[in-house]
Parts: sequence; structure tokens; C-alpha cells
Amino acid sequence: MNANARELAAHFDIEKLTAEFYADPYPTYRALREQEPVKRMPNGSYFLTRYDDLLTAYKNTKAFSSDKKKEFAPKYGASLLYEHHTTSLVFNDPPAHTRVRRLIMGALSPRAIAEMEPDLIALVERLLDNLAAKGDVDLIEDFAAAIPIEVIGNLLDVPKEEREPLRGWSLAILGALEPVIGAEAFARGNSAVDDFLGYLKILVARRRAKPGNPDRDVLTRLIHGEDNGERLTEKELLHNCIFLLNAGHETTTNLIGNGLVALSAHPTQKKRLIENPGLIKTAVEEILRFESSNQLGNRMTMEPVQLGGVTMPAGTLVTLCIGAANRDPRQFNDPETLDIGRTPNRHLAFATGAHQCAGMALARLEGAIAISRYLGRFPAYTLKGPPLRGGRARFRGFLSVPCVVG
Ligand code: HEM
Repeated sequence: MNANARELAAHFDIEKLTAEFYADPYPTYRALREQEPVKRMPNGSYFLTRYDDLLTAYKNTKAFSSDKKKEFAPKYGASLLYEHHTTSLVFNDPPAHTRVRRLIMGALSPRAIAEMEPDLIALVERLLDNLAAKGDVDLIEDFAAAIPIEVIGNLLDVPKEEREPLRGWSLAILGALEPVIGAEAFARGNSAVDDFLGYLKILVARRRAKPGNPDRDVLTRLIHGEDNGERLTEKELLHNCIFLLNAGHETTTNLIGNGLVALSAHPTQKKRLIENPGLIKTAVEEILRFESSNQLGNRMTMEPVQLGGVTMPAGTLVTLCIGAANRDPRQFNDPETLDIGRTPNRHLAFATGAHQCAGMALARLEGAIAISRYLGRFPAYTLKGPPLRGGRARFRGFLSVPCVVG
């Protein structure tokens, strides 16, 4: 381990990230994993980078709580952002979490997802036709971002002509989850929750008056609740719809965008996938591992916890660094190499345990169809200069990827 790595680990502060870090966080992650895998931050929180330590945290929900009320109170004050994030299932422990998760999982069953496939293929083919007609395109705006917005819109049956503002709201609300936010990001996030709630109230009222098919329409399912009479309150219903719309947008956009950029930067792997389209499933898993679109998760200790020789008292904030764990050489051979045929590949891009991503089967399907059909149609695509990064630590991806489809 050289002096530079020691420096990187010693000076790492989640609240003071550098431009170099946003461009390429992996040297820092590697240094932390080797030097200080349970790293205390100046603000008293801890930053975990080893695969096994993340597994411990994900699996022990009693010791590592997902409830964010304590953490978000000083960050958001009494605001709509606070109300939204603390009502979402992902930031709650049982029993609130269990109730909402059961309802959502029911609507994301393997059968429901298989039924979405024909529409998804038709959507991707339509977008590819548009790309072919344009020639000069932005892989994010014209392709990657256009897919999840339609898929999640369909899932909640949001009328097509009303989908336009969803992506902007979603980016603003999730942007407020960055480790440090300024007044402007806070204001943008709050007004996005306000606008989103206003819209959803209308959508829910319409759906109550005219219910959809609960096997396919998540909103109808959430409104009706379980057969045993279990229901969500109005507040839970609205905020969890917002969460669902957000959870599936940016992450899946980034899976597709990161995948096409990574393949372009690794021509041998790109050629291998074009020549062996049957590798698309392992390729999607490898993209999820190599450039995880959700890089950070958070928990709070509920009791004193010992990890890597460090004792953290109860009430400690802990950041789980998925991006670092997914390149841990104790778990993955040659982890810094993109290998689209990698097996096994037990990455943590969707986390694991009680909060494991509820939409992962859908995300995998979207990634596989989008990337394989794009490569099939435009095997010679080339990027026009360096793509523009989103500049976020939590959600890793690109804002814009200018490209010639070839
Ligand atoms: C590549 C795409 C995606 C990635 C990388 C991703 C990643 C994650 C991760 C890491 C978590 C766990 C967060 C934690 O507990 O700290 C999570 C939770 C969740 N995700 Fe995803 N996600 C993706 C796509 C989707 C999609 C498409 C949907 C919905 C259709 C979705 C819905 C959810 C929900 C509802 C949860 C909360 C589960 C719970 O708390 O029980 N995600 N996701």
C-alpha cells in the first residue's frame, strides 16, 4: 500500500468529497478497504467498505436500523422532505416496513413482471427507431432515462400525457439524500415533494373512483390493501407511491447508461457480448457490480456493535459503501476488471436482507432488454467525447452521454 493510498484513507471525509472522488471513487474505496475498513468520519459516523461488514449490517436489522427519523430531523427540520423520507418503507423498520413491503411485493411478482416484457420490448424498439433516425443522440435523455419512466408509469398506471414532470421531481427528491446539501437543493427537494403529493392526490382520487386491475396496477393494490383488511393510511400511501416512482427511475437509468459507457470503454468485453448475446444476464450483473448505480446505504446502530475491531456505540450513523464492497478482493477475483461472464457474482448492488431491492427483477429485465437490443442494433456506437457525470456520491451515473449510434 503506497503513501498516496494511506493519504486517501486518512483524509477521507464523506462531507468533503473532491472532484477526483466523484470522477473515480474506486482508488479511495480501495485505500479505505485496505487501511481503515471501519472508518470514523469527523462527524462521528462510520463508513464501511468491506463486503463481509456490509453483509453483517444488512442481515442484522435489530442492531442496524433503517429508521431515519433521528438522522433526518436535523438535516431536514419539520419539512415535507422529512415527512416523505421518514414515511418511505426503505427508511423504516418493522412493523411499518413489513406492511408496505408485503403490498408492493405482491404487485411485483414474477408473473406480473413477465407480463410487462412485451410492452417493454416494444418501448425499447420504438426508442431505438428514434435513435436511428437521429444518429447523433444523448444516450441518457434519448434512451436510458426514457425507459424506467415509462415502466414505472405503467406500473402505477399514470396516464402517458401526465408523466413529463416525474423525472424532475424524482431527481430533486433523491438529490436531497446526498451526504451534504445546500439551501437550493433542499428547497428544490421540498417543492418537488409538494408538487408530487398534489399530483398523486388527484391520481389516487381518480383510481378510488375507478379501480384498475390489482394484479397489474400497484396503485390499485396499495389502495385496496390486503385481504385481511390491512391498509395503508393516506399519508403512507402517497409517500410510498412517490418512493416507488423514485426508486425505479434514476437507479435503472444509471444501470443502462453505466452499462453502455462501460462497454464502450472495454471494447473486448463489448465484442464478447455482441458475439455471445446469451451472456446478457451475467453482463447485467457485472455492470451492477462494477458501477453500482446506488453506491451508498445508511443504517443506525441500536446497540453497541463491534466490527473490524472497532466498537460503535448505540446511535451511531453508519454508511454502507456498496461501491467498495462490490470490488472487495476477498469476495471477487480480480475485482477491478469488468468480466461480463463473471460467475458467481454475489454483488450487493440491490443490498440484501429485509430491505433488499423490491424492484430488482424488474430492473434486471429493463437492463437486459435495453442493453442487448441497443447492442444488437448499434454495435458500432461511439461516444462523442467524455460523458458528463451526475456529480453525486450516492447515485452513480451520467447526466449526459453524447453518442453517435454508427
Ligand atoms: C438498477 C436498479 C436498481 C438498483 C441498483 C436498486 C437498488 C436498491 C437498493 C440498494 C435498495 C436497498 C436500500 C437500503 O435498504 O439501504 C433498494 C430498495 C428498494 N428498491 Fe431498488 N434498485 C433498483 C431499481 C428498483 C426498481 C425498478 C424499483 C421499483 C419498481 C425499486 C424499488 C425498490 C423498493 C420498493 C425498495 C425498498 C425495499 C425495502 O425497503 O424493503 N428499485 N433498491
